[in-house]
Amino acid sequence: MAVLEILTYPDERLKQESEPVTVFDDELRAFLKDLEETMRAGPGGVGIAAPQVGRFQRIALVDVSAKPKIEHNGFMVLINPEIHQWDGYELGREGCMSVPDFTGNVIRATSIALTAQDAQGQPLSFQCSGYEARAVQHELDHLDGMLFLDRLVSRRTDLFKRKVYKK
Ligand code: NI
Repeated sequence: MAVLEILTYPDERLKQESEPVTVFDDELRAFLKDLEETMRAGPGGVGIAAPQVGRFQRIALVDVSAKPKIEHNGFMVLINPEIHQWDGYELGREGCMSVPDFTGNVIRATSIALTAQDAQGQPLSFQCSGYEARAVQHELDHLDGMLFLDRLVSRRTDLFKRKVYKK
C-alpha cells in the first residue's frame, strides 16, 4: 500500500473528465487500497476521487462513519457512480484535499439515490442524506472535472481561508 500524491488547485488536470472503469482486476483493487490509504492519511479524509491522484477513471471513495450522530452507509467504494435522484437542498461548508488552503459554502441536495459498481464490478445502490450525501456529491464532481470552487455562488462571501487544516 502507498499514500499517493494529491493534485492541488490550480493544477489543470483537476478539470479533466474521467473515463468509466471497464476492467475490474487485481490492479484496480490494488489501486483502491492505495486510494483508501491516501484518503485516510489526509486531514478530514471523508472522501477522495481517483482523478485527485492523477488517475482519470470514474472511481470515488466516501467514508463519513467517523462523524458522530449522522446517518451513513459505512465505507463506500463507488465505481462508475450515477446519481439518479436528488431531493431538497442545503448550503454547507466543504473542504477538499485538492484545495488545502480554503473552505467554501456550497449548495447540495440533502438526499440522493445513486447506483455504482463495487471492486468486482457488481452493482450497488445507496440512499444518502445530509453530510454523507454532500460528501458523495462533492467526490462525484471530481469525476467531471469540478471542484467546490466552481460551485460557489460568490467567492467574496462563500470562500474562507483556512488558518490550520484541522485533523
Ligand atoms: Ni475534493
